[in-house]
Amino acid sequence: MIVLVGFMGAGKTTVGHLLSERLGLPFADSDRIIEQRSGRSIPEIFAEDGEPAFRALEHQVIADLLDGPPLVLALGGGATEHPGTRDRLARAQVVYLQVGYEQAMQRVGGDQGRPLLARPDLAATYQRRLPLYAELATLTVSTDGRHPEAISQDILTRLTTEPTVGGRAPYLPSRP
Ligand code: S3P
Repeated sequence: MIVLVGFMGAGKTTVGHLLSERLGLPFADSDRIIEQRSGRSIPEIFAEDGEPAFRALEHQVIADLLDGPPLVLALGGGATEHPGTRDRLARAQVVYLQVGYEQAMQRVGGDQGRPLLARPDLAATYQRRLPLYAELATLTVSTDGRHPEAISQDILTRLTTEPTVGGRAPYLPSRP
């Protein structure tokens, strides 16, 4: 199981797809599973039920995915704000895709599918989350100005050369 965390626009979904192809592991994106389970889009859930309800659903979906078979799993940028999700991630292999605030805004600017972009306190939210991502990460990769292919190659190289951290399960599926 490889879990990708980072702010909106870090490239978790794009890089996750590339990693899943290279590793021969299925890919899942927690946002898409939330939408499938609830039968609604992320903006609809935020608008109809509010953010706390979204976070509760997000936590449950991520916990279920972590209990399932190995995946490359991309999380929504706010998933690490939930203490229960952080507890679960403390035992997983977590790759943190770092992105600067300006670069993140350039990548996602104006996306109607991301309700947080309308928040006036978005920059503060970004700052608040940085230490959460960093604390959970077993591997941290900078993405600013880099192509997803290069980022994914960097991750693969480091996964095969760097020792696993803190006794967490190995990143890579064992090969026959
Ligand atoms: C959110 C990020 C989104 C999605 C939701 C909330 C956030 O995921 O989960 O809109 O709180 O940062 P991405 O990081 O994939 O955009």
